[in-house]
Amino acid sequence: MVKIFDTTLRDGEQMAGVALAPEEKLQIALALDEIGVDIIEAGFAAVSNEERTAIKNIAKETSRASIASLARLNKSDVDAAASADVDMIHVFIATSDIHLKYKLGITRDEALQKIGEVVSYAKSYGVRVLFSAEDATRSDLDFLVKAYRTAVDAGADEINVPDTVGVMTPSRMAYLIRYIRERIPPVPIHVHCHDDFGMAVANTISAIENGAEVAQVVVNGFGERAGNAALEEVVAAAHYLLGMKTNIKMEKLYELSQLVSKLFGIPVPPNKAVVGENAFSHEAGIHVHGVLNNPFTYEPMRPEDVGNRRRIVLGKHSGRHAVEWALKNIGVQPTEDLISHVLNAVKEISIKKVKIDENVLREIVADWQRRR
Ligand code: KIV
Ligand code: ZN
Repeated sequence: MVKIFDTTLRDGEQMAGVALAPEEKLQIALALDEIGVDIIEAGFAAVSNEERTAIKNIAKETSRASIASLARLNKSDVDAAASADVDMIHVFIATSDIHLKYKLGITRDEALQKIGEVVSYAKSYGVRVLFSAEDATRSDLDFLVKAYRTAVDAGADEINVPDTVGVMTPSRMAYLIRYIRERIPPVPIHVHCHDDFGMAVANTISAIENGAEVAQVVVNGFGERAGNAALEEVVAAAHYLLGMKTNIKMEKLYELSQLVSKLFGIPVPPNKAVVGENAFSHEAGIHVHGVLNNPFTYEPMRPEDVGNRRRIVLGKHSGRHAVEWALKNIGVQPTEDLISHVLNAVKEISIKKVKIDENVLREIVADWQRRR
């Protein structure tokens, strides 16, 4: 079983140009709760009173998921998170030398001392505490393990391994998770991957295969810079490629993707895996022929199982089977003559970059009828 920790409302909202109103945050949180997310990171309580109130409201209105707030590793951030009535306080501090020196201006020893002190302070609120070592993947390994041990000894219930600037590969991630797992007490390990090299989902899956229990994800892969590991891709890959269960109702993935896209004001790229408009679209004649006979010839999962749908697209690469199917689909009898006419017209029109949807197809048919 893989647990899903969704951070659409925190790391996702940190995406350039995105700001959600409290009621929009609530709408997304309710959808995440409904779809079966285990932990919803609802925000960063110390950011503002409005943010804290929004998190508090999400904690009140959701019924199934645990609610978390992010907090920097200081007491006032922890107080702000606790006052939002969350189930989990997610504290973080960077552990890489570059962050310690240039961002925090503290030594490794000072960082360890803060970890011990603030994690036990957060724990005194009686909620679950998740400890993140920001930039874990560029940290000295021995120091990283020391940081996690200090956090767990101080009461952290779970630890997170963030690939903050997305520099991992699946094999390096496998090594890192095993290395940490063998050296710290048996608490759940989260993985949090960014997509700077387009590796976030692959690295998340590798972490899961190698002992991480919780995947931190964002719907549509939204998030800072190139974004985070996409919820829908991690869930589908865990299910179909690893044969691992999650609590996610997969048939609602497309609907969730559309909702988040609408409220973030960011379109879903058409070629986006699982939830994109093209994820189950077929144009090339050979593919369409195969798919119409047996969809698994060119589809790795059933579109309806993830709430998406199959689209047979007419275009430059179409063959007779696709045209026959498209004509039947709009209720027109596909005679051999008509198929030939449509096929010629489609090839001519499509190179002018016109999308051949049902309306265009009807016009082609009407033109053919007029000419007879
Ligand atoms: O990317 C990151 O390191 C984070 C942490 C705060 C978990 O988002
Ligand atoms: Zn992040």
